[in-house]
Amino acid sequence: MATIQLKVNQEGRELRDIDPATPLLWALRDHLGLVGTKFGCGKGLCGACTVHINGAAIRSCSMPVSSVAGQSVTTIEGLAPDHQNLHPLQEAWMDLDVPQCGYCQAGQIMNAASLLQANPHPSDEEIDNAMSGNLCRCGTYTRIRAAIHTAAGKGGAS
Ligand code: FES
Ligand code: FES
Repeated sequence: MATIQLKVNQEGRELRDIDPATPLLWALRDHLGLVGTKFGCGKGLCGACTVHINGAAIRSCSMPVSSVAGQSVTTIEGLAPDHQNLHPLQEAWMDLDVPQCGYCQAGQIMNAASLLQANPHPSDEEIDNAMSGNLCRCGTYTRIRAAIHTAAGKGGAS
């Protein structure tokens, strides 16, 4: 067991008495109560658990919490710039009614946010390539792509 400190959604957090091998996903959900990040496959294959480490999208189900000690984690709860405004991707997701069951969508948005940071105006092909590892059993892929274009048009990388 160990004590691990990290920054989550811009706030310093301390995880006490935690097994260092605990996947970051469970540290977020069970220890910090941030349940917006979802468990899908647990094997790095579906993207439901996507969060950012220092701005880059990673699969939190496959990353021991000890490996992100001292680093900055952003979850879907912390993506919006403040309490009054949503992230442009979140606005676009709502405008275009992207979700169906919704289970995969936090991971989809976090991966899309990372994409727009790296490439503020991606083509269809670039979106499809970047998002190909985020699975949606409801098949919302067409709306996801459209929403990423909409967010890009509103400065979605910010
Ligand atoms: S739950 Fe992490 S990739 Fe599927
Ligand atoms: S909206 Fe249902 S799995 Fe994606």
